[in-house]
Amino acid sequence: MSLRRQNPQLDSEGRLRHFLSIEGLGRTILTEILDTAESFAGVGSQQVKKVPLLRGKTIVNLFFEASTRTRTTFELAAKRLSADVLNINIASSAAVKGESLLDMLHNLEAMQSDLFVVRHSESGAAHFIARHVAPHVSVINAGDGRHAHPTQAMLDMFTIRRHKGDFGQLRVAIVGDIMHSRVARSQIHALTTLGTAEVRVVAPATLLPTAVEQLGVHVFHDLAEGLRDCDVVIGLRLQRERMEGALLPSEEEFFERYGLTERALAHARPDAIVMHPGPINRGVEIDSAVADGPQAVILEQVTLGIAVRMAVMSMVLGRPPGAEQGETT
Ligand code: NCD
Repeated sequence: MSLRRQNPQLDSEGRLRHFLSIEGLGRTILTEILDTAESFAGVGSQQVKKVPLLRGKTIVNLFFEASTRTRTTFELAAKRLSADVLNINIASSAAVKGESLLDMLHNLEAMQSDLFVVRHSESGAAHFIARHVAPHVSVINAGDGRHAHPTQAMLDMFTIRRHKGDFGQLRVAIVGDIMHSRVARSQIHALTTLGTAEVRVVAPATLLPTAVEQLGVHVFHDLAEGLRDCDVVIGLRLQRERMEGALLPSEEEFFERYGLTERALAHARPDAIVMHPGPINRGVEIDSAVADGPQAVILEQVTLGIAVRMAVMSMVLGRPPGAEQGETT
């Protein structure tokens, strides 16, 4: 009960009201997201790719930072749920005329919006917005600084569960720039909460956050050792926009030591899957032979992301499938 009271994402009955970070959510709710996503996974292959679940709801995409996959799949997810979607182009909004973030939000609330999907370069931005929105408005974090990217982590969990089943049997390696990655942070919380047998991070010391072991992961500096016998290998981009100073000798040297090549992948299990949140940088953290190879599920992650975003949107708006008879088929 005390967790429920403290966790700003849950309402008084323990249901998801906002989706801001994986931290603080239990296995039951994460599993509910995955199960709900499963029920939406077929919508994209129907002749009419739509269900009427969020008909009449207004969803606002507020992206203060660049995005391709995340923004478009949130938009598609909303449309497949029959909601109305607004995409606010921050560069051409009144923010450039000096309007404060909160004034902008209050104006969007005055238009009777129901949900804000927020991406921002400042860690904590989505929590800040969730604290200030009107009681009828929900907030989903689509990535804040280096802090969290919970829907990305859940689409990764969904992809893993579909390929590998039980997390309790799995060894998962996350490779590369862990330090600047909100994706890695959210993945680590999701994987450990879902009971993954072993979560590894593989990176040079300069690209690891301090005390990362306290998150329940095993640290490896050698790629071959880190990948040995893994079922899932996750690559990450070098997030240079968040790096201060030179943390790396050169991209060539990084690729030499930490690049996901066929040679490196041979240390993982032969049936290991290779994942990446995108955007991928070929020849920097991943070789084309691996990115386009038979073990890669990188594009499938994008497709499954739509179902996961549909799940989270329907849950925060209190309309899980089945809420209205006959609506989901
Ligand atoms: C990631 C992000 O923006 O955090 N991409 C994504 O959302 N698919 C990872 C990255 O930018 O490298």
